[in-house]
Formats: sequence, structure tokens, C-alpha cells
Amino acid sequence: MFHPALKTPLCEQLGIEYPVLQAGMGFVAIGDLVGAVSEAGGLGCLGAATMSAPKLREEIATVRRKTDKPFAVDLLFAKGGSSSAQPFTDDVAESIEIVFEEKIPVLVSGLGDPGPIVDRCHDAGMKVLSLTGNTKNALRLQDSGVDAVIAQGYDGGGHTGRVGGMALLPSVLDALNIPVLYAGGVGDGRGLAATFVMGGQGVWCGTRFIATYEAWGHDNYKNAIVEIGDEGTIRTRCFSGKPCRMYANGTTSAWENPELQATIEPFPLQMRNVSKWLGKDPYMAGRRDGEMAVGACAMGQSAAVINAVQPAGDVVLQIMEEATQALERVHPMG
Ligand SMILES: Cc1cc2nc3c(=O)[nH]c(=O)nc-3n(C[C@H](O)[C@H](O)[C@H](O)COP(=O)(O)O)c2cc1C
Repeated sequence: MFHPALKTPLCEQLGIEYPVLQAGMGFVAIGDLVGAVSEAGGLGCLGAATMSAPKLREEIATVRRKTDKPFAVDLLFAKGGSSSAQPFTDDVAESIEIVFEEKIPVLVSGLGDPGPIVDRCHDAGMKVLSLTGNTKNALRLQDSGVDAVIAQGYDGGGHTGRVGGMALLPSVLDALNIPVLYAGGVGDGRGLAATFVMGGQGVWCGTRFIATYEAWGHDNYKNAIVEIGDEGTIRTRCFSGKPCRMYANGTTSAWENPELQATIEPFPLQMRNVSKWLGKDPYMAGRRDGEMAVGACAMGQSAAVINAVQPAGDVVLQIMEEATQALERVHPMG
């Protein structure tokens, strides 16, 4: 039996059993992973920012074949459409329409402000969650009407901010009056227990769910998460132009050189720049082909406590079990 206190109000709002949310990671978070996490009682989230419209529909169908429980879609709300009435890029606007047509229960914004469509989401019965790396932006998102904010600390995998998690979560909690979840560095249930004790209502885990059978990615990528310790990643601008926490390898160390750093182009142009330098697409080399010595493989410091590649559903239940044990150490259920 899991600790009853872990059934937070946000679980009720989202219609899920456990406050364990799987991060909507580009390329990695496909329908198989999302379906497995939601079916186990957590909230799976499709990493739809990198999906074409047909691919998004296909992955939604895969989730629905695996579960009838709630799940989410994550998009990056990049600004700028072809008409002045459209606040987001044409690709994002197309994905948003699919989210409405398919009646997806939860929409997550990994970047930018979903404010212009929050009322429409609520009218359709959807919940909206937004990621932030600092308190100022968290306040802006609350003003936009989102249902909950996910505060992501510096230790997190992928694009990440400057504020460490232990400072960020309480700061955001003090500033906001809506539910707050925590992301960044949560590799096991102790992170969920700590989040809960601070006042957070759940965790959003990325790296932990890459090391699962259902995630999309080469086995070398998944195994690297199991193998590295707390110093095995680096926050670098070399792959995308924005600070991004990645597996530390030959490419990341070469780009620590000040002369190369001076040539880094702004997001997303750096992707083309680094591909030219390497002679191939570093993202495909890493996550698809498993070339860990040179490829781009996003992962976070939580890899330090991830010790096995497992079924995603088992990960959800294990995080709950570990969080229960951690809370029991402080206050036995009796
Ligand atoms: C491989 C990878 C891809 C990611 N892609 C996205 C994305 O497309 N959208 C998004 O909102 N966040 C993305 N993130 C960040 C995650 O949503 C999440 O906040 C982060 O993984 C949490 O830190 P953790 O990895 O330590 O659990 C990505 C992270 C990783 C590791």
C-alpha cells in the first residue's frame, strides 16, 4: 500500500492515481511509453514538439490502444503565426487543433506561454500545465490561467535553467497559489517524497523514463543513463544554441573550447552549425544510432540514482513505493 498522503489534490484534478508524471520528451516520449505510464496510474505525456501532424495522430492512437486512462500532450509554444490573429507558429497551431479534436485531457507547455488558448482548453474540459525554470516566469504563467506549474531545476535533463531545484521549488511555492509540481533530478521516489514534504503536488520525470523498454531510443542511450554517475552530464549550448543538459562526451568537451564557443549560433541555428562541424546530425547519431562518444543525448543528473532499464509501469510503482518508504522513515503509517 502506498502512503495515502501521496494522493494529492492534483491527482484528483487530473484523474490519475499517482502524482508521477512522465515528461513529454521530444522523440523519446512516444505512444508506447505514454500508454504504459498512464495505464500504471501515472500521467504519460507525448513529446509532441518534434512530431508532425500525422505522427501526433498516430501516437495518440497508440496511447488509446494501450489505455483508456488520462494522458497529456507536450508542445513548445513558440510565438509567431502566418496571420496576426494566430499567436503561435503554424506547426504549433496545427498540433493544438489536433489536441482539441482528439479531446486530450491535459495539455503541457514546455516552453512559452499557452495563455492565448487557456480559456478554450478549460471550456473543452482540459487542464493546462506549464514548465518554468524560475519564479518570475511561474508568476506570469499563473496570471495566464494555467492549472498548475512545473518548476524545473538546473539538474534536469534537456533544456534547463539556471536555478537549482532545492531553491526553486520552495520559491515558486511561496509565490503561487495554484498547484506546483517539481522536475529536474528526480530519479527515484525520494525525490517525490521531498517534493511532497516541501508542498509540491507531484513530480515530472524525464531521464528516469528514458531508461525504460518503451521509450524510443538506442539501447546505448538507455544504458548510459544506468552507467553514469552524478558528474556524467554537462549543461551545454553546443547542440541547440540554448543551455541543454546532455550526456558529456567528446563533442561536448570539444565545444568547451572558447574559440568554438564563440561560434555558437542562437537557437535553433546551432543545430545546423554543430551538424556541419561533426559531419552528421548529432541527435540522430546519439539517440537513434547509439554513438555515445559523439552524439547528442539529453539526460539529467538524476542518472546518478537510476540503476536499471525497466518497464515504464514498474518505474511508476517503484517511485511510489520508494516515496512511501521515505515518508515512513519520518512518520510511520502505523
Ligand atoms: C531527451 C529529453 C527531451 C526533452 N524534450 C522536451 C520537450 O520536447 N518538451 C519539454 O517540455 N521538455 C522536454 N524535456 C525536459 C523534460 O520535460 C523534463 O522537464 C526534464 O527531463 C526533467 O528533468 P529530469 O530529466 O532530471 O527528470 C526533455 C528532456 C529530455 C531528457
